[in-house]
Amino acid sequence: MGLLNIVLLFATINVALSVQDGLLPNGNFEQGPKASQMKGTKVTDPHAIPHWEISGYVEYIKAGQTQGDMLLPVPEGAFAVRLGEDAYIKTRVTNVTNGTFYSLSFNFARTCAQEEKLNVSVSPNNEPNDWAMLPMQTMYSSDGWDSYSWGFLAQANEIEIMLHNPAVEKDPACGPLIDFIALKALKTPHRPKGNMLKNGNFEEGPYIFPNTSWGVLIPPNIEDDHSPLPGWMIESLKAVKYIDAEHFTVPEGKRAIELVAGRESAIAQIVRTQKGKVYDLMFSVGDASNSCQGSMLIEAFAGNITLRVPYESAGKGGFKRAKLRFTAVTERTRVRFLSTYYHMKSDHSGSLCGPVVDDVRLVGVRYP
Ligand SMILES: *[C@@H]1O[C@H](CO)[C@@H](O)[C@H](O)[C@H]1NC(C)=O
Ligand SMILES: *[C@@H]1O[C@H](CO)[C@@H](O)[C@H](O)[C@H]1NC(C)=O
Ligand SMILES: *[C@@H]1O[C@H](CO)[C@@H](O)[C@H](O)[C@H]1NC(C)=O
Ligand SMILES: *[C@@H]1O[C@H](CO)[C@@H](O)[C@H](O)[C@H]1NC(C)=O
Ligand SMILES: *[C@@H]1O[C@H](CO)[C@@H](O)[C@H](O)[C@H]1NC(C)=O
Repeated sequence: MGLLNIVLLFATINVALSVQDGLLPNGNFEQGPKASQMKGTKVTDPHAIPHWEISGYVEYIKAGQTQGDMLLPVPEGAFAVRLGEDAYIKTRVTNVTNGTFYSLSFNFARTCAQEEKLNVSVSPNNEPNDWAMLPMQTMYSSDGWDSYSWGFLAQANEIEIMLHNPAVEKDPACGPLIDFIALKALKTPHRPKGNMLKNGNFEEGPYIFPNTSWGVLIPPNIEDDHSPLPGWMIESLKAVKYIDAEHFTVPEGKRAIELVAGRESAIAQIVRTQKGKVYDLMFSVGDASNSCQGSMLIEAFAGNITLRVPYESAGKGGFKRAKLRFTAVTERTRVRFLSTYYHMKSDHSGSLCGPVVDDVRLVGVRYP
């Protein structure tokens, strides 16, 4: 009982100390430089943007601004920043909790034809290579904007978050637009009653901006060894998309996963099993009601069984349940899902999309 009280006390302290989920101070860049701190759109003073420190070719972009004949889109409010040649922005967050996992989310838009990558990092950091080079692709939403999330372990109560475009470009003004940077403390996932999987319904995950309608990309493991999707790993090379019920159709609850990269990405979870015992893996397959049409196929793996579940999508939302019965061949079973095919939205935006997975349950079967 005493132990339980102490645990509860710690939980309460954690909540009280943790940063409020949502925007970082001036994370939408609505507070900007004075006219005297800019030359054209380039910011000339490293402390001109309140709460941020900048370096390199950073531009302050107002909604409606054009470059050539291209409109530079600003997703929220009136302003965004652009990180050009060797440019970074960084900020201190003074009220995180040492030892807690967080996810950082931000909106980005690519503005140049060439490949752009952003180095996202947090310090202090005792883990080697705990930074990510995230490709700025914007091929997943129709709006010209996408969001990324990135998970990390806070290793102090005060941290510094940095977004850096390390490229030395032909055109120094080339580089991604960034807006809306938010932080969310991730809850440790637990196994609910009647499900051996953690976070099987994906309700716990990165922050989704309430006003954006394009979900949040979760990068693969190779870029992020602390998945912002508690319990799950994003395997292989490409991101998956975390979607919300406010802007998409999700089979259950408020959140689900859209497999937007065909066979190039899979979500997986490793779970303790008893060798020789029979289990049922049950899940929903559907579409997000985002004009993603066609014959879809989800592959589910467990034990040494693969189940292929076809789903005909009219792009208007809907789902079906599927069940894979398998016998565990090891003490640890990897449960895995991927989309066999690549899909593109039928709205001529050229953006990638795919089937939705949700409400994944694993149970032991007593009398198979
Ligand atoms: C954390 O600090 C920021 C300012 O740095 C403040 O806006 C926010 O409300 C704080 N959160 C909590 C829970 O104290
Ligand atoms: C990314 O940023 C981190 C932190 O500044 C740095 O240690 C790392 O070398 C950078 N990676 C690349 C590829 O620039
Ligand atoms: C954070 O917590 C770890 C583990 O408890 C501890 O070793 C480290 O000293 C702490 N760091 C700071 C800056 O408080
Ligand atoms: C979302 O948009 C509404 C209406 O435009 C605005 O009032 C609200 O402040 C926005 N929310 C955020 C988090 O920016
Ligand atoms: C699955 O594993 C079992 C036990 O190792 C084996 O007997 C069976 O042939 C395997 N099935 C397939 C399809 O590989």
